Amino acid sequence: MSEKVYRLALLPGDGIGPEVVQAGRRLIEAVAGALGHEVIFEEHAIGGAAIEAFGEPLPEGTLKAAREADAVLLGAVGGPKWDRLGGNRRPEAGLLGIRKALGVYANLRPVRAYTPLLGSSPLRREKVEGVDLLIVRELTGGLYFGPKRREPIDGGTRVVDELVYTTPEIERIVRLAFDAARKAGKGLTSVDKANVLESSRHWREVVERVATDYPDVPFGHMLVDNCAMQLVRSPNQFGIIVTENMFGDILSDEAAVLTGSIGMLPSASLGDGPGLYEPVHGSAPDIAGQGLANPLGTLLSVGLMYRFSLNEPRAEEAIVRAVNRVLAEGYRTADLAGPGDRISRTEEITDAVLERL
Ligand code: NAI
Ligand code: MG
Repeated sequence: MSEKVYRLALLPGDGIGPEVVQAGRRLIEAVAGALGHEVIFEEHAIGGAAIEAFGEPLPEGTLKAAREADAVLLGAVGGPKWDRLGGNRRPEAGLLGIRKALGVYANLRPVRAYTPLLGSSPLRREKVEGVDLLIVRELTGGLYFGPKRREPIDGGTRVVDELVYTTPEIERIVRLAFDAARKAGKGLTSVDKANVLESSRHWREVVERVATDYPDVPFGHMLVDNCAMQLVRSPNQFGIIVTENMFGDILSDEAAVLTGSIGMLPSASLGDGPGLYEPVHGSAPDIAGQGLANPLGTLLSVGLMYRFSLNEPRAEEAIVRAVNRVLAEGYRTADLAGPGDRISRTEEITDAVLERL
């Protein structure tokens, strides 16, 4: 019997990054044991940790390991220690640099309502119960990457940000979203501003054309302002949402608060090479080094890694189930705890998830 071997790059980074990546590593070892595959870990510095060790936020060795891996698990970067440094020497430059180097054009953020946490949502329980949606955000085009300029004019300055997309850039993200919808057996909502923007009108044309290849996937269009409203009015109507860079940035933050703490949220960034998996939160310097970090966003990111990069969707399902059980049994890290809750440390809640896999 030939055993599968996966090569994974671990980039812990700064603050609570190493604590949550360590939890992720333990989960991967447990899943690998259960599924009978071998994993080779390559651990490398990124962000502030890399500045300390190598004088730059994204050393060549880190980049090489990431490029050669089947997938990359990243913790978080940044902290007050490096805040005085200039733009491209800051820890964040390591994060942007690796996203760019891996060409990850699709950012996926699942948003799930965990029944035991419904009390911590700003929305009423009956609104959020059952929410299980996925936002697919275009990550390397649009307004954020378009040409920018400033020119002096009489009476002030004229400023320009261009929103640029090409047909292939739209098509690849739309296809990825249709594939995700088909795999999940869910509907797709494409979000745009086609009543105003030319780029959105073309986006819509591309969606219509690609949709003919997915006759089994129900899809519709929605204007972004309406989508912002619908996300809080009735989030349960959504399955997969696909949208351009800036709309996705805003909508994904909005959707994130539907279900409680930032410590719970995983993400995947996909391109044609290795996928990049990271919790949505930052390096949380205020609690770093104390064993207080919530590792669940990272453990759920490992789940996404199994689904999208290692082609083991059952592993993700098992991880999500285990997380739900642990929450149902009352385990709470500090960020999830309410008055009177007993607080679990990072290792304890990780142990609990591993035991329930
Ligand atoms: P943050 O997400 O690090 O922390 C915000 C608040 O949430 C803090 O009170 C923190 O203690 C809490 N928190 C975050 N994750 C948690 C977890 N897993 N468990 C328990 N509590 C958690 O955002 P903040 O404070 O704005 O940024 C701190 C540093 O992180 C900055 O240097 C920032 O640039 C960097 N950052 C890095 C990101 C990344 O690497 N992807 C994303 C966001 C911020
Ligand atoms: Mg944002």
